Amino acid sequence: MANTNTKVAMVTGAGQGIGRAIALRLANAGFAVSIADLNLENANNVAAEIEHAGGKAISVELNVADRDEFFKAVQTTADKLGGFDVLVNNAGLGPVTKIKDVTPEMFTKVMNVNVAGDMWGIQAALEQFEKKPRQGKEVVGKIINATSQAGVRGNKNELLYSSSKFAVRGLTQVAARDLAKQGITVNAYAPGIVDTPMMRKIAVDQGLTMGDYEPLVALNRLSDPDDVAKVVEFLASDKSDYITGQTILCDGGMQFA
Ligand SMILES: NC(=O)c1ccc[n+]([C@@H]2O[C@H](COP(=O)([O-])OP(=O)(O)OC[C@H]3O[C@@H](n4cnc5c(N)ncnc54)[C@H](O)[C@@H]3O)[C@@H](O)[C@H]2O)c1
Repeated sequence: MANTNTKVAMVTGAGQGIGRAIALRLANAGFAVSIADLNLENANNVAAEIEHAGGKAISVELNVADRDEFFKAVQTTADKLGGFDVLVNNAGLGPVTKIKDVTPEMFTKVMNVNVAGDMWGIQAALEQFEKKPRQGKEVVGKIINATSQAGVRGNKNELLYSSSKFAVRGLTQVAARDLAKQGITVNAYAPGIVDTPMMRKIAVDQGLTMGDYEPLVALNRLSDPDDVAKVVEFLASDKSDYITGQTILCDGGMQFA
């Protein structure tokens, strides 16, 4: 049933890892949350966890690389939760690739998820934001994209991943400029080494353990998904209304922009 008072956020890739932590934080902050993921079982579990804790959540099966699916998932979210205020484009793939090993198939797959997925999300969110009445110069919608410290400085053995995450910063800046006059902010968050299934696989693919990354981090500890979720909660809140087009590094001091 539509609820006009509660703000609505959709988080992609929220079935596990950083996306799950973001969804839990936003729910705790009072958002009704749409848990969108390729893996519906995991999405169902996160939505159930939120509901069990007294929050409001739905789950949606979504491949962010599919533009039509993205528009449908956003519409379903708006219909079932009674509005649309924040999109967190969190879903992403993290391949480790030596330069010579990148194939056209890998390029297409990773760019379709990490870059095109964010573009379809921006378009689908915009469709909803444009329907909202606006008072003066108030912010009516927020789009928050996942880049990476690897999207701020090029990382060894991550030709494809780093390139895709640099592109996310680019599309964040362009969308921020293009949508500012409509009261829509667009920002990005750049995590470092976060203990998630993706990062554990990257460590294995690089022949390293998670502990091997610790010396790269000034604060001398790896990141918990909730370290990142706290930053996204800020970007989703009205406390960040005067920030747009920015990438907020939350990497414990790996890169200094
Ligand atoms: N873990 C890190 O250290 C780290 C560092 C910097 C940036 N990031 C970025 O943060 C985001 C989340 O990373 P994570 O570590 O939680 O990853 P993860 O692999 O642990 O979880 C990603 C989630 O996204 C979902 N997903 C994958 N492809 C999808 C698609 N096409 N459509 C919808 N859902 C899809 C997966 O099912 C999974 O639930 C990614 O964009 C990643 O690049 C992660």
